[in-house]
Amino acid sequence: MSNSNIVSFSIIIPTYNESENVLRLIREIEKNLPTSDFTEIVIVDDNSPDGTGKLVENYINQQKSTTEKEGSPKTKNYRIKIVHRIGKNGLIPAIMDGVKQSSGQNVIIMDADFSHPPDVIPKMMQELKMNPNSIIIGSRYIEGGKVVGWPKKRRLLSTGASILARFGLNVRRVKDPMSGLFALPRELIQNISIDTKGYKILLEILVKNKEIPTKEIPYTFIDRQSGKSKMDRNVIMNYAEAIWQLYRHGPKSGQVTINEKVNKRSVLFLSKVGRYYTVGISGLIINYIVSFLLANDVANSIRLLSNVWYLEASIIGAAISSTSNFFLNKYWTFEDKRFDVRSTARQYLSFIGMSAIGLIIQIALLYYMVENLIPYRISLIVAIGIATTINFILNKKFTFKEKVWA
Ligand code: GDD
Ligand code: MN
Repeated sequence: MSNSNIVSFSIIIPTYNESENVLRLIREIEKNLPTSDFTEIVIVDDNSPDGTGKLVENYINQQKSTTEKEGSPKTKNYRIKIVHRIGKNGLIPAIMDGVKQSSGQNVIIMDADFSHPPDVIPKMMQELKMNPNSIIIGSRYIEGGKVVGWPKKRRLLSTGASILARFGLNVRRVKDPMSGLFALPRELIQNISIDTKGYKILLEILVKNKEIPTKEIPYTFIDRQSGKSKMDRNVIMNYAEAIWQLYRHGPKSGQVTINEKVNKRSVLFLSKVGRYYTVGISGLIINYIVSFLLANDVANSIRLLSNVWYLEASIIGAAISSTSNFFLNKYWTFEDKRFDVRSTARQYLSFIGMSAIGLIIQIALLYYMVENLIPYRISLIVAIGIATTINFILNKKFTFKEKVWA
């Protein structure tokens, strides 16, 4: 196909209902292609009802017949290919299918809707040629890159997800690990096993190749002008569903694939934070009820269950609620189901110690904020929120001996 000193690239473009974009995109890419390297465009269509696949098919045939007649020199180092798939089966399987059916030494993945500007493709090729054993990433989140046309909500979600991924999955070195635009040597993508439910293929590759150098190239992501997005709602729903499921039951027992584990690590962290807060709220309620029921309400001369001085009652309330918090967090939040006396007692003491630290942090923050004229009601929320989160992390790490991000 190509002689040995020609570098070759396969540009994989998955499409679903992109009839308004696909031919325009192909032409733009063709216009920008350097002729020095062999390049193929591989369109992977999931039998789009709007006829995207047929359009591309016709375009290829038409191109063939004109080259036969005129013999354009451009086509020497270039071809275009279409892969028809039976039906819509998700972005990642389409990409993997495209990779399998392509032949370039290097692979470039991009969207069909002009969100990824065709003129960065030659830059990425150039960059990959200069750093042949690395992953070149089109990046929205380094200097010079940006996002145009996304509503605030989606922007927030995307940055939030990137931060979570960067820190939760330990891919800190990359600013835009959720990018859909990237270039890399074939070996790095070809044999990777992808959970079909995953939707961020680059992330998966980065997590599994921590030692491979990466380089980000800034570009401006422009939200699609034509056609409809296929993913937003589903993607968000899947993520939310995973959190909810984990929130209620913890991870499913039994075999979990590495991919699932990796994808779910940040979800798992979030769900544990959620459970921890829920337990905290239950503790507040228990604390309140116990304190209230035990105390003799002198002012109103009401005598409830017993007749204890109200401050004593409140201490008992705090002690009972800390204890219930401890057991609920042990069993539910951190899924630690071993209850032998020695280690449980050790954990209990540690938990109480961490609560004390949390309390000190909370009071210090509260003091600092209120003294700096931040309204009390706001300071209180912030202080409790921060203290509880620090508390969570401390207990996760030191009381229940889990890794913080795992
Ligand atoms: N063959 C195939 N099958 N293609 C699909 C499918 C599918 O099931 N679902 C989506 N595509 C194609 C679309 O036609 C488009 O070319 C590309 O995949 C991206 O789909 P969009 O619907 O435009 O997704 P998006 O704009 O919400 O998301 C993009 O942005 C992310 C960055 O935040 C995607 O490119 C992600 O890859 C990217 O990470
Ligand atoms: Mn898009």
